[in-house]
Formats: sequence, C-alpha cells, structure tokens
Amino acid sequence: MKSITFASFKGGAGKTTAVMAVASVLSQMGKRVALIDADENFPLLEWRENAMKADTWSDGITVHEADDLRSFEKAFEEASQAGISYALIDTRGGGSELNNACLINTDLVIIPSALTTLDMTQALTTFEHVIELHQSMAMDITTALLIQRVPVRKLTVSQRHDLNALSELPCCETRLHNRDAFAALGKRGLLHRIHAQLKNDPVKRISAGHIAAAMDEARALTNDLLEALDESVEKN
Ligand SMILES: Nc1ncnc2c1ncn2[C@@H]1O[C@H](COP(=O)(O)OP(=O)(O)OP(=O)(O)O)[C@@H](O)[C@H]1O
Ligand SMILES: [Mg+2]
Repeated sequence: MKSITFASFKGGAGKTTAVMAVASVLSQMGKRVALIDADENFPLLEWRENAMKADTWSDGITVHEADDLRSFEKAFEEASQAGISYALIDTRGGGSELNNACLINTDLVIIPSALTTLDMTQALTTFEHVIELHQSMAMDITTALLIQRVPVRKLTVSQRHDLNALSELPCCETRLHNRDAFAALGKRGLLHRIHAQLKNDPVKRISAGHIAAAMDEARALTNDLLEALDESVEKN
C-alpha cells in the first residue's frame, strides 16, 4: 500500500477537498482506497455518510477514524492488511504528535495552499516543518505544495506574484481551481458518481459539464501524485 498525507498548519487550506477529489479519481480507476481520517471532526466520515444518502459512494473506498496515535496505527494496519492500493491521509490544520505521525508514516506529503499571503506564509512554515521532521528521522519523503483554489478568471497582479513565489518550491504541476463542483464535494459524494447521475438529465447538463471540468482537473492531479509517489517509493 502506498500512502499520501495531506497536511497544512493553516486550517481551511483545501486538504479534505483535495483528498475527496483524488479519492474520486482513484475509485473511478478501479483502485481500492483507504481514507484515513486523522481529523477529530471526521470530515471524511461525514462525506461517506452524505454520499451514501445521495447514492454517490463506492464500496471500493473504506474510511478509517484516526483521531489519536493508537487509532492511526490501527487504521494503517487494517488498510495494509486488506490489500488496499492507496491510502489517503487527511489531517487536521496545525501541528500535533498525530500530524507528525502522519507525516513520517507516508510515501508522499502534499501541502495545499491558496494564493493569499496568509496561506502562502503558513504553507512555507509547514513545508519547513515537514522537511526538518524528515531530516531529523533521516528520511527522504517527497514533499510538494498543491496550489489550491486558483481563481478561474484572470489572476490579479498580486496573485500572479504569489504564484511565482510559490513556484520556487516543489509544487504539483496541476493546480486546483476554485470551482463550485469542488466546494460541493463534501455534500455530494464521488465526482464520477455525481456526474453519472447528472449527465442523462437534460436539465442538469450544465451542472454535469462543471463536474466534468472538475473531474479533468482531479484526474490530472491524481496522475501527478501517482508519478511522484512512484518516484518517492523508488528512492526509499
Ligand atoms: N478547489 C476548490 N474550489 C472551491 N472551493 C474549495 C476548493 N478547495 C477547498 N474549497 C473550500 O474551501 C473550504 C476549506 O476547504 P477544506 O475543508 O478542503 O480545507 P481543509 O484544509 O481540509 O480545512 P481544515 O483544516 O478545516 O480541515 C471548504 O469550504 C471547501 O469547500
Ligand atoms: Mg479538512
């Protein structure tokens, strides 16, 4: 099993949304996925509940509660033994012992950041923390930023400046744009299942188009992550 941890010191950076988008794509690819919900608010458990109600879930995805070190270890063990291909670990904003455990028991670390000065500053601090943590354990785990919530329309001068500044660090090639389809994921379920429900209804074709655009972006991001994951596993 290969795993990716999504982390950021700042709350609301877009971790859970990125996890849901990537989980949707992996599920559509027919992969078995474990979602490790290392956030005591359990947003992924809530996602599964909402998706089950909307009939947009898939049995190929399991969700594991991990709000302390013991349950994290248990969740990881369960997922590894169940023959799951990928584990996506969602963490709570901030630093904690649990977050550090998620950051070292993984093959790839992704730090989402929106294009605001506050988000960027916090993303940089998170990046430094992760690198120091890995170095202190003599580990070399690939760590990259994910630029999140990029405006669909033209960027302002300051956003362009922020984007250039962030691009100095290792970043995922794909960026997630600010899309209603991503904002609504938590309530609606898996992207491809939502799309399948909408596409045959003539009234909902425009919404289906928006979901399809989000799916394309989520697919590109997932491909970036799988490539980075292979490289990270290879070097270790
Ligand atoms: N690409 C996006 N497009 C539109 N809305 C987004 C996008 N990414 C995140 N959001 C919205 O931003 C808010 C914060 O996102 P999310 O919950 O994913 O962040 P988080 O880092 O998991 O937060 P927390 O630290 O509280 O767990 C949510 O309302 C979510 O719907
Ligand atoms: Mg979250």
